[in-house]
Amino acid sequence: MVCFRLSPAPGSGLFLLCLVLGAVSSYALELNLTNSEKATCLYAKWQMNFTIRYETTNKTFKTVTISDHGTATYNGSFCGDDHNGPKIAVQFGSGFSWTVNFTKELSAYSIDSIFFSYNTNDSTTFPDAKEKEVFTIYDRVTFPIPLNDIFRCNSLSTIEQNNVVQHYWDVHVQAFVQNGTVSTKEFLCDKDKTATTVVPVIPTTAPAPTTTPTPKEKPEVGSYAVKNSNGTCLLATMGLQLNITQDKVASVFNINPNTTDVTGSCHPQTALLRLNGSNIKYLDFVFAVKNENRFYLKEVSVSMYLVNGSVFSITNNNLSYWDAPLGSSYMCNKEQTVSVSGTFQINTFDLRVQPFSVMEGKYSTAQDCSADDDNFLVPIAVGAALAGVLILVLLAYFIGLKRHHAGYEQF
Ligand SMILES: *[C@@H]1O[C@H](CO)[C@@H](O)[C@H](O)[C@H]1NC(C)=O
Ligand SMILES: *[C@@H]1O[C@H](CO)[C@@H](O)[C@H](O)[C@H]1NC(C)=O
Ligand SMILES: *[C@@H]1O[C@H](CO)[C@@H](O)[C@H](O)[C@H]1NC(C)=O
Ligand SMILES: *[C@@H]1O[C@H](CO)[C@@H](O)[C@H](O)[C@H]1NC(C)=O
Ligand SMILES: *[C@@H]1O[C@H](CO)[C@@H](O)[C@H](O)[C@H]1NC(C)=O
Ligand SMILES: *[C@@H]1O[C@H](CO)[C@@H](O)[C@H](O)[C@H]1NC(C)=O
Ligand SMILES: *[C@@H]1O[C@H](CO)[C@@H](O)[C@H](O)[C@H]1NC(C)=O
Ligand SMILES: *[C@@H]1O[C@H](CO)[C@@H](O)[C@H](O)[C@H]1NC(C)=O
Ligand SMILES: *[C@@H]1O[C@H](CO)[C@@H](O)[C@H](O)[C@H]1NC(C)=O
Ligand SMILES: *[C@@H]1O[C@H](CO)[C@@H](O)[C@H](O)[C@H]1NC(C)=O
Ligand SMILES: *[C@@H]1O[C@H](CO)[C@@H](O)[C@H](O)[C@H]1NC(C)=O
Ligand SMILES: *[C@@H]1O[C@H](CO)[C@@H](O)[C@H](O)[C@H]1NC(C)=O
Repeated sequence: MVCFRLSPAPGSGLFLLCLVLGAVSSYALELNLTNSEKATCLYAKWQMNFTIRYETTNKTFKTVTISDHGTATYNGSFCGDDHNGPKIAVQFGSGFSWTVNFTKELSAYSIDSIFFSYNTNDSTTFPDAKEKEVFTIYDRVTFPIPLNDIFRCNSLSTIEQNNVVQHYWDVHVQAFVQNGTVSTKEFLCDKDKTATTVVPVIPTTAPAPTTTPTPKEKPEVGSYAVKNSNGTCLLATMGLQLNITQDKVASVFNINPNTTDVTGSCHPQTALLRLNGSNIKYLDFVFAVKNENRFYLKEVSVSMYLVNGSVFSITNNNLSYWDAPLGSSYMCNKEQTVSVSGTFQINTFDLRVQPFSVMEGKYSTAQDCSADDDNFLVPIAVGAALAGVLILVLLAYFIGLKRHHAGYEQF
């Protein structure tokens, strides 16, 4: 294991030493992509291996580890253009291919997705495989890195999915390289950070960990509808921003309606709107009827996958938001916050919902949230006006009375 980390290049003395020690060889992959002006646009250097489990003809399972990429080619690797993000594509061995693609936001770029495919038709690598076909594993990673930083993760990262365990280590990657110069500013993965912060003697100002950028932009507004046998029964239009606080650090995610699926159900007394996406297992909004004449948002449940692979879940079924009369919709264009718990809140933008009595798939008249504030103000304003009138009437009365009185006195 140690020798892997020390032997970045194949064929070195250390590599031989590793063989003598009986370890399996491991090659670093390196890619220095240049654009048409011969300036570096993407740089990557990393190590990886894959353990694949497959079914054999006699219904038992075998595992095989692929760690030799000695004959790798990089066909299909690409700097990116106006329409497509950069991509690293690697082919090795007999029919293995590995691809990672990147996206760019305002101040960050993300490792978007990783694809790995293998062909069990190759009987030397997969002896006795029952199925002989190409399998592809796809992982949506969406790991953000500040623009102009090189990502480094010497520690081992493991992704486990559908019979394949992917191991990555000694990873260095920078997409969207600026001015042809690979950055010297490293953005470390959490595991590398803890590996270096074990050392500090005096806990003075911690070596400022570059915080992951949070999207400050408004989320895109999505339109969601739930149907039952009678047609559309629930409508919701809103931009959603999720705010998760963990270890005192808030991470903010915008929900992209383009990559979000909607399901749900409608009943006389409750209605459910369920959203899901690649990172969101589910995000439930449960509406209820109160006093037989109003509806409100009663419950929010969420379960989502965090960048590090763990799952964050929370439920609160004792909420009271988005209250409006049955037969109308609730609308709020300004930013509003639904506080689900101390660690989870949802910021909503350009909201309109109608969970009950939807007619012909259209919203009914809206109760606007600014009315929530007006509800407060209207009685006060009316009261103040009435008080004013009363005072005027009384004043007029007393002045009149006084004149009258004075009149009598004069005579
Ligand atoms: C990548 O290639 C370019 C052009 O060949 C070279 O100038 C640059 O030094 C290389 N960068 C690295 C990190 O190897
Ligand atoms: C694959 O990589 C992991 C992590 O470095 C290592 O523990 C394991 O021994 C490797 N397997 C092979 C067969 O090289
Ligand atoms: C199934 O195949 C494996 C490997 O080909 C062999 O080791 C094992 O004995 C076989 N089992 C049976 C029940 O035939
Ligand atoms: C990669 O591209 C080269 C040249 O274009 C070609 O000769 C080679 O067969 C390709 N390799 C693969 C695995 O497609
Ligand atoms: C990466 O690949 C996935 C799956 O093909 C695709 O949905 C996504 O849009 C790609 N991202 C980029 C930046 O091309
Ligand atoms: C498997 O490989 C054999 C020989 O290499 C080829 O004739 C056959 O078409 C392949 N089958 C599949 C499903 O790829
Ligand atoms: C790239 O070059 C431009 C103009 O020379 C400069 O303004 C900019 O700061 C450079 N960016 C980086 C990341 O070095
Ligand atoms: C459909 O509409 C009818 C008449 O309004 C009603 O009786 C029935 O319960 C509705 N069905 C569903 C699934 O909502
Ligand atoms: C996220 O939640 C934290 C803690 O409740 C709060 O301090 C922060 O302002 C919130 N950020 C956004 C963008 O809502
Ligand atoms: C969603 O799709 C629309 C139309 O295809 C497009 O204009 C918009 O940019 C997409 N939004 C995101 C966040 O991808
Ligand atoms: C939502 O969940 C369904 C069922 O679990 C799944 O098929 C679908 O792919 C998910 N949608 C997204 C965008 O991930
Ligand atoms: C993922 O990160 C969260 C918050 O930082 C932490 O509570 C959790 O233990 C981490 N999970 C794993 C598997 O590292």
